Amino acid sequence: MASVESLDALFNEELKDVYDAEKQLTKTLPKMAKKASSEELRQAIEEHQQQTEEHVERLERVFDELDLPARAKRCKGIRGIIEEGDEMVGEAESEQTRDALIIAAAQKVEHYEIATYGTLRTWASILGHDNVASILEETLNEEKETDQRLTELAEAFVNESAWAARRGAGARGARRIDQPEPATSAGRSHLRRAQEQPFPVGAASPCC
Ligand SMILES: [Fe+2]
Repeated sequence: MASVESLDALFNEELKDVYDAEKQLTKTLPKMAKKASSEELRQAIEEHQQQTEEHVERLERVFDELDLPARAKRCKGIRGIIEEGDEMVGEAESEQTRDALIIAAAQKVEHYEIATYGTLRTWASILGHDNVASILEETLNEEKETDQRLTELAEAFVNESAWAARRGAGARGARRIDQPEPATSAGRSHLRRAQEQPFPVGAASPCC
C-alpha cells in the first residue's frame, strides 16, 4: 500500500500533468470550434474553451494553496487524444460526419479529464487538502456537464439521421421506411431504433 508521502508525490506529479493537459486544450479547442458546422456544437466548444481557461487558473490556485510552483509536465495522454481526434476529423467527408467526429473527439477529452480530476479530488481528500479537493471538484463537475451536453448534441445528430431515413427518397443507398425490412436482425433493430427516434425540435413532419 502506498504511503502518504509517496501519495503526496504522486499527487504533485499528476497536478503538473493535468496543468499541461488544460494548457494544451486552450490551444486545441478554438481550432476544433472553427471546424464545427453546427452552431450549437461551435457554441458548446467555445463555452468550454472559456471554462478551460478558468480550469488553468484554478490549478494555479491549487499550486498556490499547496505552496508549490505552478509547473507543467508534458501530458502524453491528452496529446495522443488530441492527435487521434485531429486525424479522425480530418478524414470526414461531410459536415455532419465531421461534427459527429468532433463530438466523439471532445468526449474522449472530457472522459480523460473526468478520470484525472476524479482521482486528484480523491487524493486531495485523503491527503487532507480539503480546500484543494473543493476546487478540483468544481472543475470535475464542469467537465461532467460538458460531457453531458456533448451527449445531448450527439443524440440530436442521431435524431436528424432518423429524420433523413424517414424522408428517404432519392438518397443513394437509403431505404424508405415503407420498403421491406432488411433481412438481418441487426438491420431490423437498427431500423426500429431509427423509427422510434423523435423528430428534432422544429422539424416538419416528413409525411405531410
Ligand atoms: Fe478542463
